[in-house]
Amino acid sequence: MRQKIEMKVFLEVYPPHEWSDQDRVLTEMAKEIMHKAHAPYSDFLVGAALLLDNGKMFAANNQENVSFPVGVCAERAVLSYAIGNFPESRPVKIIIVAKKREAGRYATVTPCGLCRQTINEYEVKFDAPIQIMMLSPNGDLLLAQSIEALLPFRFNDLNA
Ligand code: THU
Repeated sequence: MRQKIEMKVFLEVYPPHEWSDQDRVLTEMAKEIMHKAHAPYSDFLVGAALLLDNGKMFAANNQENVSFPVGVCAERAVLSYAIGNFPESRPVKIIIVAKKREAGRYATVTPCGLCRQTINEYEVKFDAPIQIMMLSPNGDLLLAQSIEALLPFRFNDLNA
């Protein structure tokens, strides 16, 4: 090996007393809709809440299907709906919460590969980072400042 190409990534940790008012509202929205998930196959409930730069907030949950790959994650559900309706409004932040049904505490959910690529798509569309916050089991929010922290060496240019 002659050379190494390295990318360092990190998550920031925010305990509840450091959350912004918007973080609190988005987290509550995500928790509330998480309980309405259609997840009879995995029993893994996910809620995602999204803030757009027009100030509007949206939330969605995972929707599973008996033909498993047809299911949709909470993140892609909320992104499709919000940006589908407000195609000129930049997504600022997405907060994700998850819990196994009947579990006593939240699970940390970092977006799956398909959702990472989807978030990347909207960073490219709006030429701006999207903050991704994930509720951890101990109640802190973990923050990725951009999808780049979760998808290093991402694919985003057909002409590069
Ligand atoms: N799921 C999400 O909604 N978001 C993620 O980031 C990870 C996984 C859903 C998909 C499926 O309904 C269930 O969680 C178990 O994988």
